[in-house]
Amino acid sequence: MARKPLIAANWKMYKTPAQAQEFVTAFLPLVANHDRDEIILFPSTTSLSVVVAAASGSNVAVGGQNMYFTDEGAFTGETSPVMLKAVGVTHVLVGHSERRHYFCESDEIVDKKLHAAFRHGLKPIVCIGETLEQHEKGQTHDVCLRQIRDGLKDVTAEMAKTLVVAYEPLWAIGTGQSATPEAASEVHAIIRDDIARMIDEETAINTRILYGGSVKPDNIDALMVKPDIDGVLVGGASLDPQSFARIVKYC
Ligand code: PGA
Repeated sequence: MARKPLIAANWKMYKTPAQAQEFVTAFLPLVANHDRDEIILFPSTTSLSVVVAAASGSNVAVGGQNMYFTDEGAFTGETSPVMLKAVGVTHVLVGHSERRHYFCESDEIVDKKLHAAFRHGLKPIVCIGETLEQHEKGQTHDVCLRQIRDGLKDVTAEMAKTLVVAYEPLWAIGTGQSATPEAASEVHAIIRDDIARMIDEETAINTRILYGGSVKPDNIDALMVKPDIDGVLVGGASLDPQSFARIVKYC
C-alpha cells in the first residue's frame, strides 16, 4: 500500500469563525479536484462547525487541534472526543509541542489522548520533536524515540492503521528556520524503524510521517522529494489560502 501524502494546516489560535469561513471559500476552488494528497484543516475549536459545514462534500477534511481523553465530565474548558465527533470532525492533533510546552502535556497524557482518539474513531496525528537545547546536545533521536515509545504505548497494528506521526522539531516551529530535507528525512527513517520494532514492519511501512516546522511555499518542493517525508503539518504558511494551496500543490 503506497502512503498517500497528507498536507495539513494547523491554524493554532488564529481566525474567528468568519475568517475561517472566508479562508475555506477562497481555498476550495484553488484545490478543487486535487486528489494526489489528503488535505486537512485544523481550525480552532470555535471555528470547527463553520469549517466542517463549509468544507462539506469537498476534498478537504477537518480536525480538532486538541481534545481531552474522557467522554464527558467536570473538566472546565476542555473538549471531549464525543464533542469533536458530534460536530463532524474526523481527525485530531495529539501532543503538539505547544500543548506539551505551554500546557504541560506529558507523554502519558499524549498516550491517553491517542487511545481516546482510537476509541472514538478519530484519526490522530501525534506530534513529536526535540527542543533547541536537545537538538544542540545531539539528543534528537533519543527524544523522538522516547516520545514514540511512551506516547504510543499499547498501540496495536489495527489501531495504527489510522495513525499519523508528525516530526516537528521545536526550534523549527514558527522560527522561519526549517530542518533541512536531509535532516528531517533521516529522523523520519529512525521513527519508522522504531515503529517497526514497537508494532510491526507492515505498520511501519504504511504509517505516514509528516514533517512540520517553518514549511513554506519556497521549501515544500525540496521536502516532498524525500521518500520518507509523507507530508507536512503547516502553521504560519497555512493561514493564507494562496500560500497553503501552493504548498498542497508542491511539485
Ligand atoms: P509553523 O508551525 O509552520 O508556523 O512553523 C508548524 C506547527 O506548529 O505545526
